[in-house]
Amino acid sequence: MAPHDGKSVMEEFMASETEKRPISTIVIIIAMQTEALPLVNKFQLSEDPNPTFPKGVPWVRYHGIYKDLNINIIWLGNDSVFGVNSVGTVSASLVTYASIQVLKPDLIINAGTAGGFKAKGACIGDVFLASDIAFHDRRIPIPVFDLYGVGLQQAFSTPNLLKELSLKVGKLSTGDSLDMSPEDEASIIANDATIKDMEGAAIAYVVDLLEVPAIFIKAVTDIVDGDKPTVVEFRQNLAAVTAELDQAVTQVVDFINGKSLSEL
Ligand SMILES: *[C@@H]1O[C@H](CO)[C@@H](O)[C@H](O)[C@H]1NC(C)=O
Repeated sequence: MAPHDGKSVMEEFMASETEKRPISTIVIIIAMQTEALPLVNKFQLSEDPNPTFPKGVPWVRYHGIYKDLNINIIWLGNDSVFGVNSVGTVSASLVTYASIQVLKPDLIINAGTAGGFKAKGACIGDVFLASDIAFHDRRIPIPVFDLYGVGLQQAFSTPNLLKELSLKVGKLSTGDSLDMSPEDEASIIANDATIKDMEGAAIAYVVDLLEVPAIFIKAVTDIVDGDKPTVVEFRQNLAAVTAELDQAVTQVVDFINGKSLSEL
């Protein structure tokens, strides 16, 4: 057999073996502390006082064994200057890179809240599994650079998980702003997105580079194309929707337990 995709026959073989053995290590990347802590309690994880991350980064690792899984929740942490959660694509991509280097996960789960579009069927409290992920605020109107800017990626395919759990499926669009400019709106429509977040596409870029399967679980805190201001609605619904998110993540983790990647 000739090598293809730049991979040797042995590498292909090893990859298919990985797909067949039970998943053992998962990394759950979460932007906000409010979203992370209920899951830390649920899985009875403890904070790693000495995570093998570079000195000075605010990222927090919670870890433990839950059923047959070695679970790591990585919270992006509080910004060292402003004290607020380090949301957004820059810190999400760094954390994803470092977590893969240090923890070598079999699977990454990005869990968080998102805005939803009612025109595409999203309601407050809905939990989505993203099928596709792209950026909406990297506009480079030069041929091919335009596509690079959009950076479309697909999530790892999990047909059995979808059959088993009652999650909605939709496309996710990512940008570094909580609000939505008319330019962003046009890109989000072009991305055919049902949900909008601030980290997903950055994580998708890194897992594609490093060839780690990833899924994206997003719960809707606010309706972007509704009549309430995003910030008000987000604040109002954060606690209740976080409970929905945590329940869905727990169901997904319970489903993953004991299964291989090819069984998801
Ligand atoms: C992060 O910031 C919040 C809000 O200021 C604070 O309540 C929390 O204790 C901080 N967490 C850590 C781990 O520093």
